[in-house]
Amino acid sequence: MSEEHTQLRAVGSYEAEPGEVGRVLLLYSGGLDTSVMLKWIQDEYEAEVVALTVNLGQPGEDFDVVRGKALQLGALECYIVDAREEFADEYVAPAIKANALYGGGYPLFTALGRPLIAKLAVEKARESGCDTIAHGCTGKGNDQVRIESTVLTLAPEMKIIAPVRGWQMGREEEIEYAREHGIPVKGGTEAPPYSIDDNIWGRSSEGGPIEDLEEPPRDDVFQLVTLPEDAPDVPQDLVIEFERGRPVAVDGERLGLVELLERVGEIGARHGVGIVDHVEDRIVGLKVRDLYEVPAAAVILPAHKELEKLVGTIHQNNFKPALDNHWAFLVYAGLWHEPLLSDLNAYMDAVNEHVTGSITMRLYKGSARAVARRSPNALYDQALAGFGESGGLFSQQASPGFIELWSLQSRMAYKIRNREQESE
Ligand code: ARG
Repeated sequence: MSEEHTQLRAVGSYEAEPGEVGRVLLLYSGGLDTSVMLKWIQDEYEAEVVALTVNLGQPGEDFDVVRGKALQLGALECYIVDAREEFADEYVAPAIKANALYGGGYPLFTALGRPLIAKLAVEKARESGCDTIAHGCTGKGNDQVRIESTVLTLAPEMKIIAPVRGWQMGREEEIEYAREHGIPVKGGTEAPPYSIDDNIWGRSSEGGPIEDLEEPPRDDVFQLVTLPEDAPDVPQDLVIEFERGRPVAVDGERLGLVELLERVGEIGARHGVGIVDHVEDRIVGLKVRDLYEVPAAAVILPAHKELEKLVGTIHQNNFKPALDNHWAFLVYAGLWHEPLLSDLNAYMDAVNEHVTGSITMRLYKGSARAVARRSPNALYDQALAGFGESGGLFSQQASPGFIELWSLQSRMAYKIRNREQESE
């Protein structure tokens, strides 16, 4: 084995040694890293490569071009899988029921996509006789954890390689390698120096000038959401209707979930809604600054939460956010198949049985706030509670008795502690 190969030595038991690799299923995006990988794996591992590109609704992506590029770089085949519906139904819908935000601002679009991409990689690898799965994640991020944990769980026999983790090429060297091997570089060397990931639930930019915490983001980061200062001067109301926690209609028009997310995303983006400047704790210990554009999530999540609050009791409403947080953490941390997550999903489903109704969100120059609510299940029934009238379930005469008992322990403690202080 040549000396260059020493950097390829496996650390994890599931990582392939160069000699073990026969045919590789490469998760291919068409970008610089995975294009260089496509060529590099053929040369360094003397292996065959089958490419897989997953469509999760990346805006503006031309998948025919991606496929053509993979074949041109020597892939035996390049599968394009349209997984938008599965992503919306099986990943985004549960996230909405769990009000999923990590670190208070990140709606997890990348984290939700990875286990699906990894599952499809396993399926296609098996179908096309691959023994190894390759991805383009670096050794510093969360995405390697998400993809590899899922592959390992679903296909213990599968080997994994992550060349970017070991090849020690920076962006400049990769561009050099691409030039030498006739790999077309998208956007040329002039392209903005950000690492982008996107799907129907959001878009992230990392790296380059974003890493300077002391500087506000440059305007060229934002390719999806209009800057709030440039958004229309007239607000727009959007009625989001939910059935059992799932959004089903916008302004009275019933839509499939993919279309609904796209529609709300477009309208939100026009009004400057969903820009998040987020410093977050990665699971590998580093902190990172991300600039997120999440127009659909920034409208739908608050609407869902508002409706959930309206139909939930005080006890449910106090309890659920802790579980929501835990749900978001498990997904962020790449443990999609952890049993606790399905336990939590059972709870989310139970609560969301009653989350039916609609919320009107007012969008205006970067903000989205609830301005009207309607639900057959709202625990807000003035007649039943008997506000101001006699005869309802609510008795104002009973209030003093309630207050006397409700405050009993607190009053006792106050008294006893003050007595102790006096005798000191
Ligand atoms: N920080 C986010 C996460 O960990 C976004 C990562 C985006 N990935 C990327 N390859 N640019 O989920």
